[in-house]
Amino acid sequence: MRSFNVHAMTKKHSVLFILLFLASISLLSITACNKNSVASAMTENKPETATTNKVNKLLAQMTLEEKIGQMNQYSNFFDVTGPAPKEGDAQQRYEHIKQGKVGSILNARGAKEVRELQKLAVENSRLGIPLIFGYDVIHGYKTTAPIPLAEAASWDLKAIENSARLAAQEATAAGLNWTFAPMVDISRDARWGRVMEGAGEDPYLGSRIAEARVNGFQGKDLSLPHTIAATAKHFAGYGFAESGKDYNTADVGTSTLYNIILPPFKAAKEAGVRTFMNSFNELNGIPATGDRFLQRDLLKGEWGFDGFIVSDWGSIIEMKDHGYAATDIHAAEIAVTAGSDMDMESHVYIKYLKEMVTSGKIDVTIIDDAVRRILRVKYELGLFDDPYRYCDEKREQEITGSGEQLAGALDIAKKSIVLLKNDNDILPLSKQGKNIAVIGQLAESKNSPLGNWRLGAEDHSATSVMEGLKKYTGNTITYTQGVELYKGNEGFIFELDINKEDKTGITEAVTLAKKSEIVIMVLGEHGYQSGEGRSRADIGLPGLQQELLEAVYEVNKNIVLVLNNGRPLAIEWADNHIPGILEAWQLGTTSGDAIAQVLYGDHNPSGKLPMTFPRDVGQVPIYYNYKNTGRPGPKDLVFWSHYTDQSNTPLYPFGHGLSYADFQYSNLNISSSVTEVKVTVSTTLRNISQVTGEEVVQLYIRDQVGSVTRPVKELKGFRKVQLDSNQEQEIEFVLTEKELGFYNNQGKFIIEPGTFDIWIGGSSEAKLHSTFTLNGQTKSDE
Ligand code: NOJ
Repeated sequence: MRSFNVHAMTKKHSVLFILLFLASISLLSITACNKNSVASAMTENKPETATTNKVNKLLAQMTLEEKIGQMNQYSNFFDVTGPAPKEGDAQQRYEHIKQGKVGSILNARGAKEVRELQKLAVENSRLGIPLIFGYDVIHGYKTTAPIPLAEAASWDLKAIENSARLAAQEATAAGLNWTFAPMVDISRDARWGRVMEGAGEDPYLGSRIAEARVNGFQGKDLSLPHTIAATAKHFAGYGFAESGKDYNTADVGTSTLYNIILPPFKAAKEAGVRTFMNSFNELNGIPATGDRFLQRDLLKGEWGFDGFIVSDWGSIIEMKDHGYAATDIHAAEIAVTAGSDMDMESHVYIKYLKEMVTSGKIDVTIIDDAVRRILRVKYELGLFDDPYRYCDEKREQEITGSGEQLAGALDIAKKSIVLLKNDNDILPLSKQGKNIAVIGQLAESKNSPLGNWRLGAEDHSATSVMEGLKKYTGNTITYTQGVELYKGNEGFIFELDINKEDKTGITEAVTLAKKSEIVIMVLGEHGYQSGEGRSRADIGLPGLQQELLEAVYEVNKNIVLVLNNGRPLAIEWADNHIPGILEAWQLGTTSGDAIAQVLYGDHNPSGKLPMTFPRDVGQVPIYYNYKNTGRPGPKDLVFWSHYTDQSNTPLYPFGHGLSYADFQYSNLNISSSVTEVKVTVSTTLRNISQVTGEEVVQLYIRDQVGSVTRPVKELKGFRKVQLDSNQEQEIEFVLTEKELGFYNNQGKFIIEPGTFDIWIGGSSEAKLHSTFTLNGQTKSDE
């Protein structure tokens, strides 16, 4: 155990911890004497399987140089339409492939290009080992699905799995066989730009979504031409970047590491994910790329992961900037010893590993282990049976942008929308005879809805909100942009492109709003304002949009605010004033259609927030499963845990989301108020409205007293249920030790007796409450 939280330890724990610590020191010194030998976490002792045999046989034929080649990944350099590259770096990469010094290429795409690159390896290198082609297929490939955070808001595991399955189909048709997804980083910080890429703040929801995505990408048989190897990333702690600033230091205690950060990774591993990517950040003083505890001991050792780990882009040599490696060669030694099997774009494995092995600095068993893992995945993908399995141009043409792709994208896009507020039933809109103003530059954008991380998509290929609305012809719709959100041509927008000065469009917007019955304002962030390197310190409406909103509100209060954003926004003013607020994220290729169908009631919204919305950026990190503190208050005026100038409560809690239907919860039943094994909890859900709707029934628990303090609420189950008007259904959950236990500060999963609260409802502020008591002794998973 390396990371721990001393403050939370009892005396008994301290003694236990010291014993464990001494034991691990002696273990460490034994392995240190053994030239970085890592036999404990290696795969060679595993039961022999057919694939293992093939891998071993091939490994036995490989030279050291060829083995190291498998551990080397280059970004694409190839121009398939022209002659082979002649100069510099590209020429060297070209030659390296031919010499068997490359195991993988990232960023190549298209059946033709991939075939050409594959040919270089297969037809020229001595052993003809095929390359594995990696790509960031994050939310769809060419047909773009909603950003992952939006998909998470659907709480619809089948739809999420289907979205990953469709992405795999399209990506594999374009030659790819390995996606760098799903990102399973939990984050509580809306400032962090990469929250758009994950499943939000909760480890339980995050774990279920991690499984769904892995299953969707990989299917049941990785060797089929339409399944793709997935990556659980970024291992680990990347979402806990201090101050939400990308790449920043993460410093977390054992309890948070084991109970919040690691569960989705473990779930992905259990679902059979074939690769992991480590992360840019340091975690508790050790850069993740060089973290032996995380990669070698925990993931490959304790969890028994037998796939491979790829570094993040250049993260091996970045260990020099972290102040953890003195030189490139030192960085390579640290990374490979720690368990990073493949070097993405640091180029140090290919440069230095051979020398390090020959000089005896690195044991060749480390190299063999890494290569076995990489080869195994290549065998599983069927690349040795047919290296061109993913290079079928006919299939590429048939599948890309097909009807099935678009229907799947639209389905998940509609399900991802969250109705945040709907005073006086301003939504759904009437389809006839209304004068509707649409304001906001994002309403016309065909690029922003694709979100960030949409490398395979064609620019400007989404349907805009305006296009979606125009398909309904019964109303008069007039558009004006109001203030520009971004200046100039809409491309790869940077913060510098955000308009903070030019207010000229406000007057026209106000004039239009005055003569309209309803105003739809499409505001928020451009798709490129979140994503990697896109952290923001101010998470209100960017640019001059707040001013525009307030000016329009002065003349017309019938406003529906359609939000486009890649993170929770602090929009307290809007919540206080605007009657209808629809969270529409960045929804991908079919965005405009999905939004229009929800606005007009052809799809009843059912999304729930996977991340808390703060009132104010100063509350961040704000999350529902916090700890109570010794002074939860409210007590007297001063001495309790609070802000003096802002409420403790969120603007919209985790799990919140409305529907055009209304649901009533009743009859919370617990099978037994005292138990030693498991409890069954049930409730009756009734649709008390006139329309059919879907509700996400959520179950939360609180373990009232623990040997390590427990959060005030923890999600432990959910079901998405569709009910017709006046229909009711009994919903049942079974809570077992898996849901009732937690990881202690020694990283052991334990189940402690005691009293538990239970809540069931439609958000993390669920009101239906009961308790039960778990009897018996404390149990551990060992
Ligand atoms: C860096 C990102 O952190 C990672 O998520 C991505 O997969 C790689 N670049 C490759 O593009």
